[in-house]
Amino acid sequence: MFGVCYYPEHWPQSLWRSDAQKMAELGLRYVRIGEFAWSRLEPIEGQYAFRWLDEAIDTLVAEGLEVVLGTPTATPPKWLIDKYPEVLPVDPETGRVRGFGSRRHYDFASDRYRQEALRITEVMVKRYANYAGVVGWQTDNELGCHDTTLSASPVAEDGFRHWCEARYGEIDALNAAWGNVFWSMEYPSFGTIELPVGAVTETAPAHQLAWRRFASDCLVRFHSDMVDVIRAHAPHQFVTHNFIPMEDTGADNHALAAPLDFTSYDNYPLGRTEQFFADAPDDQFRRYMRTGHPDLSTYLFDQVRCLSKRGFWVMEQQPGPVNWAAHNPRPAPGMIRLWTLEAFAHGAECVSYFRWRQAPFAQEQMHAGLLRPDHTEAAAWPEVVSAINDAKTLGVDSLSQPTAQVAIVTSPESFWVSEIEKQSTAYAFNRVQFDYYRALRALGINVDFVSQSSDLSPYSLVVAPSLPMLSEEFIARCQRSDARLVFGPRSGAKTPEFGSPPTLPPGPLQALIDLRVLTVETLRPGCTELLRYAREGFKDYASTLWREELDGSGVDVLAHYHDDAPAVVANDRVVYIGTLTDRDFLEDLFRHECDALGLSIQIAPPDVRLQRRGDLMFAFNYSDQHAELSLPDSTHIVLGSDPVSPRDVTVWKE
Ligand code: GAL
Repeated sequence: MFGVCYYPEHWPQSLWRSDAQKMAELGLRYVRIGEFAWSRLEPIEGQYAFRWLDEAIDTLVAEGLEVVLGTPTATPPKWLIDKYPEVLPVDPETGRVRGFGSRRHYDFASDRYRQEALRITEVMVKRYANYAGVVGWQTDNELGCHDTTLSASPVAEDGFRHWCEARYGEIDALNAAWGNVFWSMEYPSFGTIELPVGAVTETAPAHQLAWRRFASDCLVRFHSDMVDVIRAHAPHQFVTHNFIPMEDTGADNHALAAPLDFTSYDNYPLGRTEQFFADAPDDQFRRYMRTGHPDLSTYLFDQVRCLSKRGFWVMEQQPGPVNWAAHNPRPAPGMIRLWTLEAFAHGAECVSYFRWRQAPFAQEQMHAGLLRPDHTEAAAWPEVVSAINDAKTLGVDSLSQPTAQVAIVTSPESFWVSEIEKQSTAYAFNRVQFDYYRALRALGINVDFVSQSSDLSPYSLVVAPSLPMLSEEFIARCQRSDARLVFGPRSGAKTPEFGSPPTLPPGPLQALIDLRVLTVETLRPGCTELLRYAREGFKDYASTLWREELDGSGVDVLAHYHDDAPAVVANDRVVYIGTLTDRDFLEDLFRHECDALGLSIQIAPPDVRLQRRGDLMFAFNYSDQHAELSLPDSTHIVLGSDPVSPRDVTVWKE
């Protein structure tokens, strides 16, 4: 299924019908509207103006389209801000109020704003719950985007104090948990607690972690309350949210997703590649400049897919250059179609493009749409036509969801730990997790992302690249599971209150492997050292950035550091990797583990990625060369060819 993001309020009403006709002719089914339209829906407090939205919906629905309505709460209007200035967030870095004039100018901790957001939501939902053609809701828009989860406002500080009181009960318990004796940081009462911002040097890590937990809870509560309001009045319409990655929400995306029917994701491969690989040398970056990195979109698809039980939507798909990255190239010909089919291969049920027509005014004038501002078809158009035909050929609407035998365990708290206590400026949780994902994907393996409270029974291999905070519950699940478990460095290195485990790291993991981490050192990115892998005949790889001194008993040493000290150890349940390393090592290690577990691996040519969904196997060629798959002659190819053409897709029946 396909859709598009449309802003009827941006265009004269005389255009709506022809737009709707053209959308329907293209083969789109869904149109998402309304998510930034508060100032047009309630221009004056309490005075609603829904007639235009009714007419816009009617016009779309008359052409057979179905409407997803956004709650307009990412953009509180001027009257609201003037009346309730306390809803504005405060930038934790500068202490400045983040004012009106763009979007997301509200504080998740603000009860006032929550009431206002729930009020407009309720008014809208009551009006459109049974409205012909309105099939579902998108809550807000990209919650937490633009670094808005953390705020240092007075309402946030007040909320944090109450949150602390509820969590710790007694001030002495809080002081003990945070280690506040350390620099005379003890608080005499909950009412005197400050936010961990603006201090001379670093504040207590447990204090910072508590603030992040609080901020995440505020965001989750804001969202869950909104979903409750929608459900109360519109039980037959679906509710989704267009997620951004956990590193950007700064919140617990699993908790956010919990009340939704399904999750959605906004896929901007070039903008995200530009940001993720900002430090990559130009000669390496150039290769993916117009394609995006072949593992990055899927890394995020697989995370969003696993947040809910059914398939996800791509609510916004990049259709051309965006406006918000440091540099904004055009996609290489073929990539819009490739990205679209890739989303389906990874479990998308719908791909919806952002946006219908490029805006000739305001902030996103330089952002492409399916149409140019002069109404002509932009470069993406014929690719969308092809993708719609291909999706029909493949029958994507009736494919079952992708399944995986390998899971990566991720956790917001572990991400926060690594942000708060870096120990190396080069250690980046997201990069570590991505490297593990890439290595698994290079073996042609489907990968799920799970949380520490997920069921592990579907998996043969469970991989935890960076989990400094291990819950007891998760360790118990690991003990009950038959899966082989691979843990990266830093595992179990912190207690729930950001202390060091009394038995040394990996703390609770010691229930599964007899191991202690004696010391940790971190090294400059360029100062790599050797890692010798015994299973590969003592072949040399790199140990980089993070190096742990391991002391284990009853373990096999799989790899050594340059000085022969153990770097990677294993017993019959667990592999523990005490260092960050290179992709080659991870690939070889996972190849050995998969072989031992009897998991089938398929190595594709460079820049080709494989994904299985239902009985279809997809190959995506990100390169500008033909890529030979060497499929047996008997293979039933349903789309494309072998070799796969540059920036093309081949699909065959397994
Ligand atoms: C998304 C956002 C859209 C639009 C788009 C531009 O993050 O949800 O409203 O701004 O980016 O790429």
